[in-house]
Amino acid sequence: MFESKKRYPEQTEFAQGSNSEQENGRLDPSDVRDRADGERDGRLNGGAAGRGERSGLRHDPFHWSLTKGTPVGRALVSAAQRLSDSGSETARLDSQVLLAHVLRKNRSWLFAHHEHELSDEDCRRYADLITRRRRREPVAYLLGRKEFYGLEFAVDPRVLIPRPETELLVDLALAQISDRHGRPVVVADVGTGSGAIAITVAVHAPEAKVYGIDISRDALVVAEENRRRLAAEGGPLFLEGDLLSPLPEPADVIVANLPYIADEEYSGLQSDVRDFEPRVALQAGAEGLDLIERLLAQLPSRLQPRGAVLLEISPRQGEVVQKMAQQLSPKPSYVGLRRDYSGLVRTVTLEF
Ligand SMILES: C[S@@+](CC[C@H](N)C(=O)[O-])C[C@H]1O[C@@H](n2cnc3c(N)ncnc32)[C@H](O)[C@@H]1O
Repeated sequence: MFESKKRYPEQTEFAQGSNSEQENGRLDPSDVRDRADGERDGRLNGGAAGRGERSGLRHDPFHWSLTKGTPVGRALVSAAQRLSDSGSETARLDSQVLLAHVLRKNRSWLFAHHEHELSDEDCRRYADLITRRRRREPVAYLLGRKEFYGLEFAVDPRVLIPRPETELLVDLALAQISDRHGRPVVVADVGTGSGAIAITVAVHAPEAKVYGIDISRDALVVAEENRRRLAAEGGPLFLEGDLLSPLPEPADVIVANLPYIADEEYSGLQSDVRDFEPRVALQAGAEGLDLIERLLAQLPSRLQPRGAVLLEISPRQGEVVQKMAQQLSPKPSYVGLRRDYSGLVRTVTLEF
């Protein structure tokens, strides 16, 4: 099994007011491409350094540095140019978000303080982040945080970065809880990762009893840290194990964003994803359906009789997962696909 050898971000503190981050590409490989090769061209070593830059270490094509006293405006222009040279499509936004993070300000402060001169320490930290971003490290890992459903989750390479489209699963889970009109509800978030789904559900539906399960002990350390910070009064109970096996009682609502990338698609993922996010959070066998198939097989003993199952899937898996669900015994009374906010099929709902 893949082990991430990437170091964890040095800074995990949350920059005040800085909430605009580059969105990571979605996981579906059909709409991503690997730009890593295209960026390793001569332009990165060559070209005159902008004013205020020192000459970089020549053996490292991604290295970038700044001299003390460089004004904010010039640092931003220069960093955005370097990121753009490396193939980034969000170069300006990334340059701003990362500098705001270093200075512990929000982005609008930067625009009002173009002449503010950076200290030596600011320059060093900013240059380090820009260099890492040029190597494709996701912005969320560089910041050590990602906003999800209005909450700020700590993230690092032990966990998948929560995606905006996964917020749909939270909407569906909250609707299922509210449909039960105050009756006790047990919710299981399978493959909890950072705890994004489980903690968000627990925060918005404190009456529910929420479990978060993951096979990765490393991920659960991050999830527990998030629980302590975001849901100090209770929150989910995190359990280590395979799919629904560790669940101590049958659930009324099972929600799962499990890995769904097919083996042969994995190498074609955008390098931001493939080279930095945990493989165990992404890859799921020949068709990308191994985990979902096994989860469905566990339902009879782990789901309450009138329970619901909410699954995030790749848009191309909609039909096949629908068919798999219709062949279950007992058969669900309802199986439906939902599109995300970009119009792509993103979830399957099973109601029994
Ligand atoms: C796609 S990530 C989702 C993380 C989080 N729920 C989210 O939406 O951001 C899938 C998660 O499933 C976990 N996982 C993989 N195989 C598993 C298994 N057999 N049992 C439980 N969790 C598993 C991974 O460690 C990873 O945290």
